[in-house]
Amino acid sequence: MADQSSTPAKVEFLATKTVQEQLTEGELLVPPPEYILKDGIPCPNASLELMDVPIIDLGLLIPSSISVEELDKLRSALTTRGCFQVINHGMTLEFLDKAREITKQFFAMPVEEKQKYLRPVDDFEGYGNDMVVSEQETLDWTDRLYLTAYPPDQRKLKLWPENPKSFRDTLDQYTSKLQVITETVLKGMARSLNLEEDCFVNMYGEQRKMDARFNLYPPCSRPDCVLGFKPHSDSSIITIILQDKEVEGLQFMKDDQWFRAPIVPEGLLIVVGDQIEILTNGLVKSPVHKVVINGEKERISVAVFCVPDSETEIEPFESLINESRPRLYKKLKNYVEIYFEHFLQGRRPIEAALI
Ligand code: OGA
Ligand code: NI
Repeated sequence: MADQSSTPAKVEFLATKTVQEQLTEGELLVPPPEYILKDGIPCPNASLELMDVPIIDLGLLIPSSISVEELDKLRSALTTRGCFQVINHGMTLEFLDKAREITKQFFAMPVEEKQKYLRPVDDFEGYGNDMVVSEQETLDWTDRLYLTAYPPDQRKLKLWPENPKSFRDTLDQYTSKLQVITETVLKGMARSLNLEEDCFVNMYGEQRKMDARFNLYPPCSRPDCVLGFKPHSDSSIITIILQDKEVEGLQFMKDDQWFRAPIVPEGLLIVVGDQIEILTNGLVKSPVHKVVINGEKERISVAVFCVPDSETEIEPFESLINESRPRLYKKLKNYVEIYFEHFLQGRRPIEAALI
């Protein structure tokens, strides 16, 4: 009989309030204890250096006008940082500002209105906070709205806000444009690594699944004691982040040091997820990142996760396995589920994929 001892015990999801709800109950001087970082986690430091995140012109990655220099720049971004910004992607600054605006407007609505879209206890999707499974867990200083946007037949429209009025339409347009951009990005990434052009797109799969996560990071009187998002790497193939135009907060780890992510208002930040690390046998690594909190200003962001179909088997490409780079990862499917189980156990999920 199979050994059941490693199966996690049945998980109970604890109900907690959103950060905003706690704030509206009176001016909070000190964040509640469940948000305070425990010993051993270094406090966020606003005086860190900016990371030089390469800026890639997407116009120079389309086959008819492909640029060797741009491909070189992309390869170097992938192998040394695991993230890059794209510009000239076909979305205007006005449209990106609209996506930022609906995010701010949604979170600014009264609690009763937002609660119409509350995340059911056993679901990822909806408004509120992430699942909390242990009283010991340090909570992230953030409220979020998580919605599957692609494929369209998987949309749970009852969780899609009807207010602000343009919310649904903007999310639909934003993710439909991202479908096109993602294809160009994944093909460019493959070419830059001398891989077959469609190899990442094929792994992404027929459904082209996209989950959107709208994040609000309210200000906090003790920004040094809390985090908006704990250090993690993403479970996706790639994640596309639309950052706040004014307020910084995202930080990346590189060579054991934290760096601030720069803001490029018209740019989209592409972050490599664990599944690219597996496919490339570790040639490209998914970067660890976190979000710090501002003492006075709120910050918003919209992260879109590109996720393969749950039945697609992911394993390192044969061409990237050789004597000097032996195979590092197993064949697996539905990595997002594996990721979540390990995340809850406080382990680095990609370790579960190691041979
Ligand atoms: C995420 C994430 C960063 C941000 O949602 O996985 O890392 O800036 N977000 O909100
Ligand atoms: Ni992330």
